[in-house]
Amino acid sequence: MKIIYWSGTGNTEAMANLIAKGVLNSGKEAEVLSVDKVNIDDVKNENILILGCPSMGAEMLEESEFEPFIQGLEHFGQGKKALLFGSYGWGDGEWMRNWEEQMKLYGFEIPIEPVIVNEMPEGDDKQLCIRYGEQIAKL
Ligand SMILES: Cc1cc2nc3c(=O)[nH]c(=O)nc-3n(C[C@H](O)[C@H](O)[C@H](O)COP(=O)(O)O)c2cc1C
Repeated sequence: MKIIYWSGTGNTEAMANLIAKGVLNSGKEAEVLSVDKVNIDDVKNENILILGCPSMGAEMLEESEFEPFIQGLEHFGQGKKALLFGSYGWGDGEWMRNWEEQMKLYGFEIPIEPVIVNEMPEGDDKQLCIRYGEQIAKL
């Protein structure tokens, strides 16, 4: 399973690695990839996409690399599942609600509620990410 993320200060990257650990715990393979290493052709045949981006701008996805990548998925959502995650700072998770709606408009199914973590995942938030990976592996 491909886990594709953008991370400025490493918090969303840490979530990606914890989710990968959960996927591996459940006996599936996990590949953690920074979004700049991926293009649409790499992912258009995947039935499950695991995607991570922090809240940036004002409750936005990161604009220069991640948002263009997501927009490139617009016509590939039908029949696919998207699993979303990301870190935030001072907001209330608005960016993730908007992103979830965007993915649904593109036709993606969101089978498990997205996971958001305040800044760096620690303690219970680490477990939350690992459990998310374990659940994803069973889809
Ligand atoms: C330019 C910039 C804009 C941000 N905008 C928001 C925001 O609108 N809402 C929010 O909750 N956090 C915001 N944050 C905080 C980040 O989402 C938070 O620090 C997050 O943990 C960063 O994740 P990363 O380490 O994966 O980059 C912003 C941070 C930066 C640097």
